[in-house]
Amino acid sequence: MLHMRSFIRNPRHALNFPRFNRSVHLRDAPQSSEGHTKTASFGFRNVPEEEKEVLVKNVFDSVASKYDLMNDASSLGVHRLWKDTFISMLRPGKKGPLRCIDVAGGTGDIALRILDHARENYADRETTVEIVDINSQMLKEGYRNFKTTMYHNTPQVSFHEANAQILPSSYFKDNTYDLYTIAFGIRNCTSIPDVLKEAYRVLKPGGKFACLEFSRVENPLLSTLYDQYSFTMIPLLGTILAGDRDSYQYLVESIRRFPPQQEFSTMIKEAGFATGEEIDGDGWTNLWGGIACVHTGIKV
Ligand SMILES: C[S@@+](CC[C@H](N)C(=O)[O-])C[C@H]1O[C@@H](n2cnc3c(N)ncnc32)[C@H](O)[C@@H]1O
Repeated sequence: MLHMRSFIRNPRHALNFPRFNRSVHLRDAPQSSEGHTKTASFGFRNVPEEEKEVLVKNVFDSVASKYDLMNDASSLGVHRLWKDTFISMLRPGKKGPLRCIDVAGGTGDIALRILDHARENYADRETTVEIVDINSQMLKEGYRNFKTTMYHNTPQVSFHEANAQILPSSYFKDNTYDLYTIAFGIRNCTSIPDVLKEAYRVLKPGGKFACLEFSRVENPLLSTLYDQYSFTMIPLLGTILAGDRDSYQYLVESIRRFPPQQEFSTMIKEAGFATGEEIDGDGWTNLWGGIACVHTGIKV
């Protein structure tokens, strides 16, 4: 049976079908020690931290139904290659079945690739993936995408609505997962250190954290071309295909606000993970000159 869990806290947001594990926590506005409201980047703007979550939710509510189409159009399908590379690097199933958690996994793209890779390469039908996302509309798209696969109605996949920064410990217990993935999701979270802290908590010792995210292009010429393309074409495609320029403008801006490779790698280390040569090569691997990047870390 397909696992879907619901902790519905606010009936206004309840979905008729499917219903997911709901554990979005509401908080008072965080304050700095001087009593100022803390801010977070929302694209190129700084907004109060608690407002970012709502704004990001609005973006993904708006883009959910067109997300796959827009992803293909804006990246010319390249996001599929990056996701394939990401999973090949992780080789799920090679050392036996894994218990995986795919956070910010709305579309199900990563979960599906994990399960396919394990089955096709290692005849593994026991690896499981728990897909977690803060947005029920995105989860609904992921659920729909899984419906046409052999994993539908099996215990290999389940859907959970929760915030990556505060995974409810009653369900997402300490030292549980072999593999934690997050693809194109962490830059949308208000606090990256909080996401990393939770990733560290739920992974088993020896478990792997793996993040696929847009990053910093190092070659100046490629960087200029990429900037021109993304700041003109992506919002334009958003207008044409999804009738929503602002959400796609945010998505482009949020990429530029995400910390560059070295800085993010340091954050991963600060959360307690081992990264670097002694584990599996460098702490990160650039894809397409750094347009996207894979960061990994091992819970020690
Ligand atoms: C760009 S989509 C990526 C979806 C999928 N991983 C993929 O690669 O196609 C980003 C996802 O992050 C989710 N998200 C944003 N903030 C989150 C948070 N704090 N906790 C969990 N998910 C979050 C959004 O709802 C959205 O589904």
